[in-house]
Amino acid sequence: MPEQEMSDRVDIERVREAVDLVALISEYVPLQPKGREWIGLCPFHDDHKPSLNVVTHKENSFYKCFSCDASGDCFTFVQKYLNKDFPEALSFLAERAGIELSNTRSEDEGKSSRRKIRSAMEWAVQLYCDSLADTKEGKTAIATLHSRGFTDESIQKFSIGVAPDSWSFLTDRVLDNDDRIETCLEAGLLKRKESSDRVYDVFRNRLMFPICDETGSPIAFGGRRMNEEDEPKYINSPETALFHKSKTLYGYCQARKTIQDSRRAIVVEGYTDVIACHQAGITNVVATLGTALTNDHAAKLSRICDEAILVFDGDAAGQRAADRAVEVFFAKAIDVRICVLPEGKDPADLASDATTLESYFNDSIDAIAFKLDRLELSLESVDTISGRARAIESFLDELLRLGIGNLEGVRKPLVYERIATLTKTSMDEVESYITARRMKISQAIPQRQTTDPVPEAYTNIPRARLLAEHEFLAVLLFDPTESSAALREAKGTINPKDFMEPCAAQLAERILPRLEAGTPYSMQELLSELDEECRVLASSLYFNGQRISETSGSVMLALQMTMEAFVNALEDKAIADEVLQLKTVEDPAERAQAAQQALETIRRQKTSRNVS
Ligand code: CTP
Ligand code: MN
Repeated sequence: MPEQEMSDRVDIERVREAVDLVALISEYVPLQPKGREWIGLCPFHDDHKPSLNVVTHKENSFYKCFSCDASGDCFTFVQKYLNKDFPEALSFLAERAGIELSNTRSEDEGKSSRRKIRSAMEWAVQLYCDSLADTKEGKTAIATLHSRGFTDESIQKFSIGVAPDSWSFLTDRVLDNDDRIETCLEAGLLKRKESSDRVYDVFRNRLMFPICDETGSPIAFGGRRMNEEDEPKYINSPETALFHKSKTLYGYCQARKTIQDSRRAIVVEGYTDVIACHQAGITNVVATLGTALTNDHAAKLSRICDEAILVFDGDAAGQRAADRAVEVFFAKAIDVRICVLPEGKDPADLASDATTLESYFNDSIDAIAFKLDRLELSLESVDTISGRARAIESFLDELLRLGIGNLEGVRKPLVYERIATLTKTSMDEVESYITARRMKISQAIPQRQTTDPVPEAYTNIPRARLLAEHEFLAVLLFDPTESSAALREAKGTINPKDFMEPCAAQLAERILPRLEAGTPYSMQELLSELDEECRVLASSLYFNGQRISETSGSVMLALQMTMEAFVNALEDKAIADEVLQLKTVEDPAERAQAAQQALETIRRQKTSRNVS
């Protein structure tokens, strides 16, 4: 064996011996003793009962999941769970165990793209932090942070920094290093000018909030403007090999321990809210990154706690978010509660009085109760028995759409019982209604003529709604320039949050703001930002958009048609259905004519609705 390899082996064995696998894994996944082994919820699949076994009495400790077959030792766990490659896992575990590796390879040699991005992010965090102390923007930044009540300790705890007001602050420091430039481009720290070969800094004159992974290593930035005239307010890093917005929670590594101990996570909307809460001593607080809580977020939290409290400023925001919260509750093994703060106040505004803020968190309402309250209100005004039955049925239909059918285990009877009590029916009745409706709904969804089947997750969404969402996006994707003009005219009527289907929502979130701002994307750029599932959808929708535009005669007409269909699907499913009947019209000319007619009908109905 060559000498180098030999010393690698020795290092690996030393580290393996030093690591207590149970202690390591339970930092991320709570484990319970069971006989001579330990068990817990498996973090590598959507686990509902503990299937992860950690075995420590054999010669070498290992873990194994009896459900998804994930298995391995301390290195594979760190590689898989923390998204590191082997050398990274080795040095991570060595450092944790206080072992000095005999053989650390020279810095840049053989680094994977992920490792390079990681080290570029660390480099940038350091530079931005140093700039706080030694630039004039740093002085302004510190003054701003202090005026908002942030202490130096908080600034350090969250490694807040500042990007100086320059197009070349980072760029100047990598000019002679092509490899570094490539990595910085990949990391979203630099961008390349389209017309020339020049690169420039993405973050300029901004407060820099590093976004970290579970181990506290930086994977992205949120950059807040310092000059209130600059747009947008925040620039966030793009998705990279390390950073997936829909899976990342800001403040997670600082909050993890308290979340684990209190069994509760508080999810706020902003970076500044997280920091203010931590500073006020409420440390089980994390934030999503400008999105609603995703199932991935919920899955991550469900491994370390039982309850997530979603915090919103104002009742309107809470109402809008309630459906998403219920959906998450049905899909993941975590209780979801909603906390509505007084209108216009966010946690950062209230954090000067931690006791009051905590009492708001404690007064949160669980997401189902939030919806049940609304049903109760609507039942008050109904005095006939049949009217009451209809109201209850449509409420249950709504819960079905949100995924109540996915409930499993003990949660199912608990929720059914609550609904039964409130609607003064029996639990059996609730259950049999839901079962019957589920069957009916799944039968009512005809197989699509296209080759791709409707994925199971979508079957809770009415077909008309699904098509309306997809067809509207299809046209937007097909012609960003025309779409941009149309959307700017319709400004504000369409919100990414209106999309029910998760991939459609993700796409909408990416493209709507850009189209509305008049800065269209290139398809290639867009695809590079999406995860696999969305990428597949986006590219197939693009071709759909082409087809729809051709059959409608023009992109403008297609846009009008699909946008109206979408808006109507939001308000009135019946009308949307009518438009979407067009799908069955084979002949393009006939289809265009029918589209025109349907459009007229919708206009008439809309006008008459508006008049009445
Ligand atoms: N956000 C974003 N892009 C924007 C605006 C907001 O990504 N243009 C995200 C950020 O994650 C931000 C969160 O939405 O933290 C909440 O937005 P907002 O309340 O506007 O920002 P705060 O972080 O609360 O900032 P501040 O208190 O300085 O206004
Ligand atoms: Mn805010």
